[in-house]
Amino acid sequence: MTSGLPIRVLIVDDVPESRESIQRLLSFEPDIHVVGQASRAQEALELTARLQPTVVLMDTTLPDMDGLQATLTLTAQFPGVAVIILSVESDPELLRQAMVAGAREFLVKPFRFEELVAAIRRVALFARPASPPSPTVTAQPTRAAVTPPVDQQSRVIAVVGMKGGVGRTFLASNLAVMLARLGRRVILVDADLMFGDVAVLFNVPKGKTWTDVAHLSGMLDPEVVQDLLTVHASGVHLLLAPYTPQEAETISVDHIQQVLPFIRQLADVVLFDTYPSYSEITLAVMDAADTLLYVLTPEMTAIKDARQFLDVIELLGYTEKRVLFVLNRVHPAAGITAADIEESLKQSCLVRFPDDAAPVLRSINEGMLFVDRYPEHRISEEFQRLAAILFEGESTHISTESQGRRRRLFGGLILSRRATS
Ligand SMILES: Nc1ncnc2c1ncn2[C@@H]1O[C@H](COP(=O)(O)OP(=O)(O)O)[C@@H](O)[C@H]1O
Ligand SMILES: [Mg+2]
Repeated sequence: MTSGLPIRVLIVDDVPESRESIQRLLSFEPDIHVVGQASRAQEALELTARLQPTVVLMDTTLPDMDGLQATLTLTAQFPGVAVIILSVESDPELLRQAMVAGAREFLVKPFRFEELVAAIRRVALFARPASPPSPTVTAQPTRAAVTPPVDQQSRVIAVVGMKGGVGRTFLASNLAVMLARLGRRVILVDADLMFGDVAVLFNVPKGKTWTDVAHLSGMLDPEVVQDLLTVHASGVHLLLAPYTPQEAETISVDHIQQVLPFIRQLADVVLFDTYPSYSEITLAVMDAADTLLYVLTPEMTAIKDARQFLDVIELLGYTEKRVLFVLNRVHPAAGITAADIEESLKQSCLVRFPDDAAPVLRSINEGMLFVDRYPEHRISEEFQRLAAILFEGESTHISTESQGRRRRLFGGLILSRRATS
């Protein structure tokens, strides 16, 4: 992801002394190159087109437009550019608005210089330098429409776990928001068809669901599929689970296979939330994924299921897939450490979410995503790390044998805890 070239930075601030002091300090960093300064939003847009920065440092008070509006306009025109908001206020509502506007970081003035440098390096990992705006992209202050990606290389990540209640939905939902903040076009697909909770975590009213996908079977195209997605304020697009178990029973693997190519066309990252089962549906999702995030908690039962999962994916022949074990609800009282789990699985668990029931419950019950509600919490930091790991090439590759073995070993047998499919 890092090119080795200096990170190109544009400083936008109406106070000349502020711009100068930031430029002077950044001039000591060999990997950061300040390409320009702007004192007004309009100038910032023009210079972004001309100078192609990777990172824009945006003050919140500008003479011609407020910094959030400027961020919204800039990220709509140059989706690859990472905006860091520099604000004198630390109001959580302002932070939320900044994230909705597409900012990737929010620093409260006065900040330490090292904080700024660290933030620039962090956001640059995911940014692409601004290229001149395409004629089809307007400065409309909206991130709602999913437009076809430039390269069609969407990533498909399935959040799986073979034990109930380990936090798949919590992790998939917050990861989706984190990736959207980092400028990715994200579609989160609720593939827990019977008991899908994604709509609850995103607090979205009744919208279109898999049932509509089934009704439109055979007539799907990118526009139709786009219309079936529910847009959340975070920018994440959702394909929701049916509202009743009866409807869920009518959804088949064929529907998943029909909709998947269009979903891939419409997003940079497709995230699947799943349910604990080796049912046809979950297997179809795992087949489609290039990355499996296996969620487990420090509990003997969950560790047993994770060991089984390793055996199963070996049988499935998932040699090319990236498998990341994610430890959730880590708590000293568990009496089992991450090291014990790694030893038991013979796999590293790079990502570890602490257990903190009160804020997690609260965010869910308030209808807010945790990373929005508690941006400074260690759990939110871990989401940021997970996002970085996913896009930096750190992985656990499972060594397995050929794909063909799956058909023989599974035959028509479907293993499921909950589904009757
Ligand atoms: N890191 C965590 N700390 C505390 N509670 C958590 C954490 N992660 C998830 N939870 C709780 O666990 C419960 C199950 O999470 P959920 O995402 O619905 O699991 P799953 O989708 O795997 O069934 C949720 O009610 C949530 O409150
Ligand atoms: Mg769930």
